[in-house]
Amino acid sequence: MNSGARTIAWKIRSWAKNLLLYSNIRKSEFAMKSTRSITAALRCTALKTAILCAAVFCAMALPPRVAAETGAKAWLRYSALTPQAAKSYERLPRKTALLGDSLVLKTAQQELTDGVAQMLGLTLSSSGTVAGDAIILGTLNELHALSPALHSPQELRVDGYWITQAKIRGSKCLVITAFNDRGVLYGVFAFLTKIALGESIAAISEVQQPYAPIRWVNQWDNLDGRIERGYGGASIFFADGKVRDDLTRAGQYARLLASIGINGCTINNVNAAPGVLEDGFIAQVRRIADAFRPWGVQLSLSVDLSSPEVVGGLNTFDPLDPRVTEWWRNKVGEIYRQIPDFGGFVVKADSEGRSGPSTYGRSHSDAANVIARALKQHGGVVFYRAFVYNHHLDWRNLKNDRAKAAYENFHPLDGQFDDNAIVQIKNGPIDFQVREPVSPLFAGLRRTNEAIELQITQEYTGQQKQLCFLVPMWKEVLDFDMRIDGNSTPVKDLVSGRVFHRPVGGFAGVANVGLDENWLGSPLAMANLYGFGRLAWNPNLSAETVVDEWTRLTFGGDPLVVKTITGLQLSSWHVYESYTGPLGAGTLTNILGNHYDPGPESSEENGWGQWHRADHNGSGMNRTIATGTGFIGQYPPAVQKLYETLADCPDNLLLFFHHVSYTYVLHSGKTVIQHVYDSHYDGAEEAAGFVAQWKTLQGHVDDERYRDILARFEYQAQEAVVWRDTICNWIYRLSGIPDQKGRVGNPPSH
Ligand code: GCU
Repeated sequence: MNSGARTIAWKIRSWAKNLLLYSNIRKSEFAMKSTRSITAALRCTALKTAILCAAVFCAMALPPRVAAETGAKAWLRYSALTPQAAKSYERLPRKTALLGDSLVLKTAQQELTDGVAQMLGLTLSSSGTVAGDAIILGTLNELHALSPALHSPQELRVDGYWITQAKIRGSKCLVITAFNDRGVLYGVFAFLTKIALGESIAAISEVQQPYAPIRWVNQWDNLDGRIERGYGGASIFFADGKVRDDLTRAGQYARLLASIGINGCTINNVNAAPGVLEDGFIAQVRRIADAFRPWGVQLSLSVDLSSPEVVGGLNTFDPLDPRVTEWWRNKVGEIYRQIPDFGGFVVKADSEGRSGPSTYGRSHSDAANVIARALKQHGGVVFYRAFVYNHHLDWRNLKNDRAKAAYENFHPLDGQFDDNAIVQIKNGPIDFQVREPVSPLFAGLRRTNEAIELQITQEYTGQQKQLCFLVPMWKEVLDFDMRIDGNSTPVKDLVSGRVFHRPVGGFAGVANVGLDENWLGSPLAMANLYGFGRLAWNPNLSAETVVDEWTRLTFGGDPLVVKTITGLQLSSWHVYESYTGPLGAGTLTNILGNHYDPGPESSEENGWGQWHRADHNGSGMNRTIATGTGFIGQYPPAVQKLYETLADCPDNLLLFFHHVSYTYVLHSGKTVIQHVYDSHYDGAEEAAGFVAQWKTLQGHVDDERYRDILARFEYQAQEAVVWRDTICNWIYRLSGIPDQKGRVGNPPSH
């Protein structure tokens, strides 16, 4: 066999193996996808037929899934403690006393009763009065009426809670109190988490306050039931253009969200169907709000700016036209009549083909404010997305740069947005790539509310088929110090409104859970949803703490399980980066298609602006102030200094900021080209190592999840090889520079 034929044979073998393994997870979906890749690569009819038959055969031959631990309960498993561990909670009062009768308080009481029963086997009775030892649940105001001497050690803010022990009317009580009812519910979840983690509550006195008022998730659900960039099944809200009849999962989702302190959920795609604002539809949406309400999760909607015209029948949607103002006011009034706790709207305008204020020569603040003013009297907010850019940029012009768009569009409008408008900014200036610097816009708004948009659904980071725990990435972003005016101004303090004393701000996470039993399609991916909530509550938590908590709650406390899973999660972002986009080149994926497979050529010679500028001599976007696009000039001076020169720029963002030759020597001492080769080979090897690590957990994790995750890791190891070979061969062809270690272009001969 010559080497070309050997390569093809080797590829066939590895792809066919992939096909068999992954069919265990996504039988039909993956069979189709793999078949597509193979057919494209080989263009061989006979082989196509053979592989299709194999795919169909293995999909049919696999046994049906047996229900064991499905992941449906996520981190709220409340599994029974051992009698030994349960002993330390034996002094827990056996009665709850509820100070109030709101829906959320009743939920809190029920959750506590259920959780204690499941974990400790204790039955809590409920009582309206405090006589005898009790667990008291109620707001601080209610508590003061009962016990005026009791004062929280810190002033509680909205949603903040205090858990303490106190003598009330001579009885020993455990008190879970808060500024508001929702805070009491959060306190209950925190208390149950302590029990689940086996932490002592003997001398408990703990105050927890959220870092920012906005802690929302966005769902990109379409009304037909599909989810844009969703990898966990169909919508839990919509089917066939209507709100689903059965909203059980919507309620369960709200419970999960509340358990990590998330207080709002936007239920539909940012590419919004105007139909959500039709009269009949609001009545349907109301049912979802009803499902959320017991958990204190506020519902909000993504809306299209053209709604006054498309839904309202006006001949304009000009934000400065009085008829448009009136239309929004009436529409919002109607929504609040049906959904009194409605949260507000998310708007994507003048972006990727959406309608926007530019139609009328108006500004983004004009567009945001007409909606903000309609919401104001009801207490609602509008999130106006800064993801606005021209996707028809001329790629031949080396000064053009999509990364500059958000700052150029929004910085000049600073101070012109109303107080209940929030500019929602993606963490990086491009689009949720595996590595980007932080968006300079975070530092570019001093008199405007901000929220950071993070992507929980792994669009560019493995689509839940591959492991990529994003909390370490989000931590880097949130901790990144913008050095505004020479002061310490980390992104977390900008978005929470602390630096510039903004009234509202915070965190929005694109979650995209679906009807799959385990919500995101993969049990391990749920660590990202959990981590988003935990960081939105407290961005000072470390990634290690977050993943340790999540693992114990999701898999139990077996030390081998905890050590292995936390280790896998914590290394996964770096591993994924190393074989999909090292040195800040972006995720070198097929950007015109699925955002998943390797496809570096798709980035160039089109107007989307995700360019890497790789040619025969070198790679990278020159974004310097001196000779490049000038993007670096959008940062405060201290940050400019960090990136402007090759001497200072960190290796992991080098190709984001600079165009360098393949032989350029990195701080690490390696040439760029050798780093690219090594990184891909190392990454693929580490991905293969995930399989071996996971196998040590056989018998320590329930069979159902063990097998599911094993199949995923085996598949990931194969995909990492596909990525490695595609990218290394591509860059070898471009550069003509061989791999010093002789691997590239020389597949193994077996
Ligand atoms: C990405 C994503 C789109 C999404 C867009 C957005 O480009 O691929 O599906 O609509 O971001 O955030 O608006």
